[in-house]
Amino acid sequence: MRPPSYKAVVDEFAATIRSGCLSPGTRLPTHRQLAAQRRIALGTATRVYAELAAMGLVLGEPGRGTFVREQAGFDGLEPSRNLPVRRTADLSFAQPLADEQPDQLRHALRELANSGDIGSLLRQQPPGGRQHERAVVATHLLDRGIDTAPAGVLLTNGAQHALDTVLRVVARPGDVVAADALTYPGLRLLAAAHHLELAPVAGGAAGPDLDALDRLCRARRVRVLYTIPTLHNPLGWVLDRATRERMADLAREHDVTIVEDGTYGFLDSSAPPPLQTFAPQRTCYVSGLSKSLASGVRLGFAVVPEPLAKACAASLRASTWGLPALVSALATGWIADGTLTRLEKRRRDDARARQIVARTALADLDVTAHPASYFSWLRLEPHLRRDRVAAALAQEGILVSTADAFATDGNPPQALRLALSEPPLEDLPAVLTRLRAVLEAFPL
Ligand SMILES: Cc1ncc(COP(=O)(O)O)c(C=O)c1O
Repeated sequence: MRPPSYKAVVDEFAATIRSGCLSPGTRLPTHRQLAAQRRIALGTATRVYAELAAMGLVLGEPGRGTFVREQAGFDGLEPSRNLPVRRTADLSFAQPLADEQPDQLRHALRELANSGDIGSLLRQQPPGGRQHERAVVATHLLDRGIDTAPAGVLLTNGAQHALDTVLRVVARPGDVVAADALTYPGLRLLAAAHHLELAPVAGGAAGPDLDALDRLCRARRVRVLYTIPTLHNPLGWVLDRATRERMADLAREHDVTIVEDGTYGFLDSSAPPPLQTFAPQRTCYVSGLSKSLASGVRLGFAVVPEPLAKACAASLRASTWGLPALVSALATGWIADGTLTRLEKRRRDDARARQIVARTALADLDVTAHPASYFSWLRLEPHLRRDRVAAALAQEGILVSTADAFATDGNPPQALRLALSEPPLEDLPAVLTRLRAVLEAFPL
C-alpha cells in the first residue's frame, strides 16, 4: 500500500480535531512516531504538524511535544458562528494574550502546588472571596483610582458575573435601565434574563448625550444607569471629567444608581478617575481581569456602596455560592507579585500598536476608535449591509461582530466592530488589508 499523501494526513487530523474527537490538550505523536505510524518521511511528518499549526489546530511546544489546540474565539464560544472555511482571524472578541502567559501559568501552578496550606483551596470560600484576597484586589484598585476597604470588594467569576450580581440587587423586573444606544452586549443578555427594560441614550463619538439622559430621567422612572466611561465598548470613548461630574449630578438629582463598567480602564492610565469616585454612595463599580490577564481565568470584582454589600453577597451566594478557590489564589497571586502590572503595561503598548496598524490599513474608511482601545467601530458605506459584509468576511475566514449585538434601541446601524487583539501583530496589516479588499469588492 502506498503511504498516504501529506495532504491526506493533514485533512484527516483536521477533521478529527474539528469533530471534537481529539479534545484540546491531547498530546499528539512525536514527529518520529507519526512518520513511523503513517510510513511517511520524518520531514513530511514535520510538514503535517506545521500545516496544522498554521491552521490553528495544533500547538507545538518546544521540548514538550505537539498538542491539540483549543478552538478559541467566538466560534468556540458559540457553535452557530462556525466558519465555512479555515479561520484566518477572529476580530469578533477581545481576548488579548501574551506569548509568555502559558509558561507563567505553568510556573504559577507549580508555585501553588508547593505552597503551604494548599488544602485551604479545597474549602468553600465565603461569598465575595477570602479576606486576604479581597485585600489584594482592593490594593490593585488603588491603581484604578478607587479607594475602598477589602470588605467593600466582592470577588466574582468575571466582570459579567459582577454585573449580574449587582443588577439583581439594584433593579427589579420591569425596571428601566438607561444605557448607551450602542453598548456592551452582555448587558443586553442580562436585561433580557432579568426582565429589565433598556432605555437607550443617544450618543456620539465623544460620549452619551447627557441632555437626552436628563430628558429620559424626567420622562421615566430610571432606576439604573449602566455606563462604560473609559474606553467604551464598542465606540472607544473616554469621558472627560466634566462629563463624569454631570453624570454623577444627574444620578443624584434623579435618584439613579450608577453601574460603572471599568473593564477597559487599565488601558488608558491618563483617563479621569472612575465615576465611582464622583458618586461613591450610588455607584456600583464592576470590572475584571479578562482583558488584562486572561478571559479564561475569570476573576472579576464589584465595589458596591456599603448599604448594598450584604444584598450583593446574598446575590453572589444565590448564583454561585462562592468563587473557585484555585482561580482566586492564582489571580491574586499574579496581582500581588507584579505580574498583572507588567501585563497591563504590555497590553497598553500592544493596543496602541494595533490601533496604529488599523489607522493605516483602514485609512479613509469611516472608523471610530480610541488610540488606546482594542476596538475599531467601522461604519459601512450606504450600499453595504452589515450582515452581508460579515458573511463575505466569514468566507475569507475573518470573524467580525455586527452592530446588532450592541444596539439597545432596536435600530442597529450598518456597522461592524473589529476587535484587534487576536491576530499576531505582524499579521494584522494583512488581515485588515484583506478585510478592506472584501468591502471594496462589493458592487456599488
Ligand atoms: C465592557 C465589558 N464589560 C464586561 C465584559 C465581560 O468581562 P468578563 O470576561 O470579565 O466577564 C466585557 C467583555 O467583553 C466587556 O467588554
